[in-house]
Parts: sequence; C-alpha cells; structure tokens
Amino acid sequence: MRGKARAYTNIALIKYWGKKDDDLILPMNSSLSLTLDAFYTETEVIFDEGLKQDCFYLNEVLQSEKETLKLGAFINHFRKQANCSTHAVVKSQNYVPTAAGLASSASGFAALAGALNQALGLNLDKKELSKIARLGSGSATRSIYGGFVEWKAGNCHDTSYAHPMDDASWDVGMIVVIVNQKQKNISSREGMKRTVATSPFYRGWLDTVEEDLKQAKVAIQRKDFEQLGKITESNALKMHATMLGANPPFCYFEADSIKVMQVVEELRCEGVPCYFTMDAGPNVKILCRNSQAPIIMNRLKQMFKPEQIILSGVGPDLEYH
Ligand code: ADP
Ligand code: DP6
Repeated sequence: MRGKARAYTNIALIKYWGKKDDDLILPMNSSLSLTLDAFYTETEVIFDEGLKQDCFYLNEVLQSEKETLKLGAFINHFRKQANCSTHAVVKSQNYVPTAAGLASSASGFAALAGALNQALGLNLDKKELSKIARLGSGSATRSIYGGFVEWKAGNCHDTSYAHPMDDASWDVGMIVVIVNQKQKNISSREGMKRTVATSPFYRGWLDTVEEDLKQAKVAIQRKDFEQLGKITESNALKMHATMLGANPPFCYFEADSIKVMQVVEELRCEGVPCYFTMDAGPNVKILCRNSQAPIIMNRLKQMFKPEQIILSGVGPDLEYH
C-alpha cells in the first residue's frame, strides 16, 4: 500500500491551449513537448486504514482543504480501479517552483499517478497512466515519457494520451530563465478557459496549430534544430496573442521576459541558433544546442543572477523509486 515515483516536467514546443471537455480534460488541439531533467517532482503515497481522510503535504507543508479535495478526486480514479476505499497520505516534493509557469502540475500529477499505480499494485502501463495523469492536469499527460513527446488530442478518455516521439538524444537542451518565481495570478486552467470563451483570436489559433505541429514533427524527424526552433517560437507567441484578445485581457509577460526574448534575437543575429518559448507565467525557456549553451548563458549572466539561469538536459520517462 506504499508507492513512490519521480516524474520530470515538460515544456511544450507546440502548446496545449484550450479544452473541449473541462471534466475529462480533452484538449482542443494536439501538442508536443520536451521533457526536462533539471525539474521534477517526487511523490510518495501511503494508504492507511487508520486515516479518516486524505492528507496532502506539498514541500512539507500540509495543504488546504481545497487542494486536498482536488487531490482526493484524482486519487479516486485509482481507488475505483483497485476497488479500494482507504484514505491516503501523499507527500510530494517539487524540485520546480510551484504554479510559476514551470509545469509543476505536469510533473506533480505524473509523479502522483506513478506512486498511486505502485501503491495499489495496479500495474497500469504508461499509456494508461498517461490517460489518467491527464485527468489531474492536461500537461501531465506528456510527463509520463522522456524526450520529445506528442499528446494526441483524441475525442474521448481512451483516445487522448501521449506517446514518445524521439528520445531527443541529439544536441538539444533548454535554458530556463527564472524571471519571477512567484505564483501567478491567473492559472493556466483559468487562462485557457477565458481565452476559449472570449478571445476572437482563438479561432486563428485553432486554424493553424495542427499545421504547426506537423511542421515541428517533420523538423524532429529530420533533426532540423533551426526549423524546430522557429516553429516553437512562433507557436508560443501565437498562444500569448490569443490572451491579449480575451475579455478581460491578460498577459504573462513581464519586462524581464521581453529582455530575454531580445537577447535570444540578438544571439541569433550573431549566428547562435536559439529560440524562446513561454507558458502561463513570466519565465522564459530557451531551446538551444547543448553545445552552445555556455555562450548563451554567459550573455544572460550580464543581465541576470547566475541562480536565475538554469540549463536543463533532456529528461527521462517516469521512474519508480
Ligand atoms: P504550473 O505552471 O506550475 O504547472 P499551474 O497553475 O498549471 O502551474 O498548476 C499548479 C497547481 O498544480 C498547484 O496549484 C497544484 O494544484 C498542482 N500541483 C503542483 N505541484 C503538485 C504536486 N507535486 N502534486 C500534486 N499537485 C500539484
Ligand atoms: C501554457 O496542463 O497546466 O503550459 O489541464 O487545466 O491543468 P490544466 O492546464 P495545464 O496547462 C498547460 C498550458 C501551457 C501549455 C502546455 O503545457 O502545453
């Protein structure tokens, strides 16, 4: 009745933005990500007959009733499959800032899915885990796998899951620039909901995102770094543009986010291929050649503290501990 797992965060190169089913977390569009080895979550679950309710500790802090109920609803998917009604204590450690646009929900729910699978002896395979992780948070669907991962949107619970595309063992990496670690005001969940409901630009997103994905997949197959970078950057900017059209409008950029984007553009002009992407928060991620990361990091160090600049390699699949 005990399980422990580690899952790594992933950063989308082609973004998931918008749901067609809020309860099942079925996305409007398919997406593609890179799993990172520098940021992860470790979660331990213990089912205990003596417990009267579930308990959730995140980074050693007992979580609110609201967070615990959200977690309990997720655990219920596993309890149902195991025909079990016992409560659990969940202890999770995020080695990634929480709710700052660095995908803690992705590694968080993927690690929890793994730990629950082990604790209840369900022996679910990765495809099944990917589907259930999705019910916690959409981006968690992809964190079951390492490397480049595609999440096919599907149209029901059984057809919406991720699969590994490429182990990304070529010269790629990601530099994460922590502009601001604080929890964001508008969660990705709320942000995408508002965008779908109110932004006239959302139509433009839907009309082009599948083509972006197709191009990104071709670039990965050809190991064409520059083509992959270009499509990554333009897809991220397109997603952020949909938010400016929402009502009320919102924006995750901060002044320092724009500064990082400018550095990336300057470096490219100087012949260093690198491309930025951003999620639901001000932190910027730079897709780069691992071999060129020192040049990029040295330039960023002229503006940011060393601890704000983190180089990540490619992360592996979900691991059991
Ligand atoms: P992020 O950009 O960090 O993914 P989100 O707002 O999308 O931010 O998700 C943050 C939420 O994910 C948290 O409020 C919490 O509900 C959930 N979460 C984060 N870490 C964990 C974890 N380790 N275990 C379970 N849930 C988690
Ligand atoms: C901008 O997976 O956090 O990071 O499914 O509502 O939990 P929920 O949202 P979440 O959204 C991620 C949005 C994104 C893009 C991406 O990761 O694809």
